[in-house]
Amino acid sequence: MPTPTAATPLTLEVRRAEQAAADIFVFELRHPEGSDLPAFIAGSHLMVRSPNGSLRKYSLCNDPAERDRYVIGVKRDPAGRGGSVDLVDHVHAGDRLEVSPPHNAFELAPRARSFVFIAGGIGITPIMSMARQLNAEGRPYKLYYCTRSSEATAFRDELAGEAFTGKVVIQHDEGDPAKSLDLWPILEKPSGAHVYCCGPRPLLEQVRDMTGHWAGSAIHFESFVDAAAARKPDDRVFTVVLANSGARIEVAPGASILEAMRSSGYDAPSSCESGTCGTCRTRLLSGEADHRDLVLTDDEKAGQIMICVSRARSPEIVIDR
Ligand code: FES
Repeated sequence: MPTPTAATPLTLEVRRAEQAAADIFVFELRHPEGSDLPAFIAGSHLMVRSPNGSLRKYSLCNDPAERDRYVIGVKRDPAGRGGSVDLVDHVHAGDRLEVSPPHNAFELAPRARSFVFIAGGIGITPIMSMARQLNAEGRPYKLYYCTRSSEATAFRDELAGEAFTGKVVIQHDEGDPAKSLDLWPILEKPSGAHVYCCGPRPLLEQVRDMTGHWAGSAIHFESFVDAAAARKPDDRVFTVVLANSGARIEVAPGASILEAMRSSGYDAPSSCESGTCGTCRTRLLSGEADHRDLVLTDDEKAGQIMICVSRARSPEIVIDR
C-alpha cells in the first residue's frame, strides 16, 4: 500500500484505547492496511474528529521515529465542549477515526544544548514525545511533571524506568496550591537551556511571569486552550479595521478576530490558534487591545496583537492586515 501523503486526511483504526491515569486515556491509531503513516516531529498534534463530529486537537506522545502508529493522549473533561468525553466514552479498539495529518507548533529547537520541560496534567503528552526523542539522541533534559496525585499521573511506570533515571521530577499537589512545585529555583537563572511548558493556563502564565529575563526565543508554550475556551462571558462586540483594504469587520463575542476575518473573506498566517506560537503576530495600529496570548512581552503589547485569541477593549481597533 502506498504511504498517504502529508496532505491527505487519514482514516485510522483504533488499535488500543486504554486508561493511562484517573482521567487520561491513550489511543493508539494505525493505518487499517498496515501502511506507514506520515512522519511527525516531536511536539506534534492531530486534529481528531470524534463520533459526535467535534474536531479537537490532541498531542502525539509516542516516539517520532515510529512510522507505524500514532499514540495520542486525551483528557476526559466533562466541563469541556464534549469532544473528549465523546471520544473516551464511545470510541473503542477496532473503531475507525478520521484525523488530520500531524501538525507542529511546538517544535524542539534543533541547536539547543539542553532542555527544561514543565508539564502540567495532560500537558505531559507532547513532552513525552520530545523526551523519547532526546533519550534516543542522548541529549540532556530535565522534566518537571506536575499532577494532582499518583493516580492522576499518566506514564508514571514508564517515567520510573531506566531510560528516565535522573531526568524526571514528579510533583503531586493533592489540589493544594501550597504543595505545588516551586518553579523559581528552576527558572531564576537563565541556564542556556530551552524551556518548554505545556499544561493548564495558570501554569503557563506562571512560567511566562518567571521567565521575563530569559531570551524570548528560549521559552516555548503549548496550550490545549483554543480560541473558544479563551473567551470570557463579558466579551463584547467590536470592530476590527484592516488597514490594507480599509475593510471594517465586526467581531462577535463568540468569534476571534481571525475567525471574523475569515468569515469576511480575509485570512492571515496562523498555526496554534491558542495564543502560544506567535505565527499570527500582527501590528496594532490604533485602538486598545485586550491581550490574551502568552507570546507578547509587555513592551510588545503596545504595538502588536495576536489575532487568534486577543480582542479589543476599545470599540474599534486598526490592525496591519
Ligand atoms: S496562531 Fe499561534 S499565536 Fe496565534
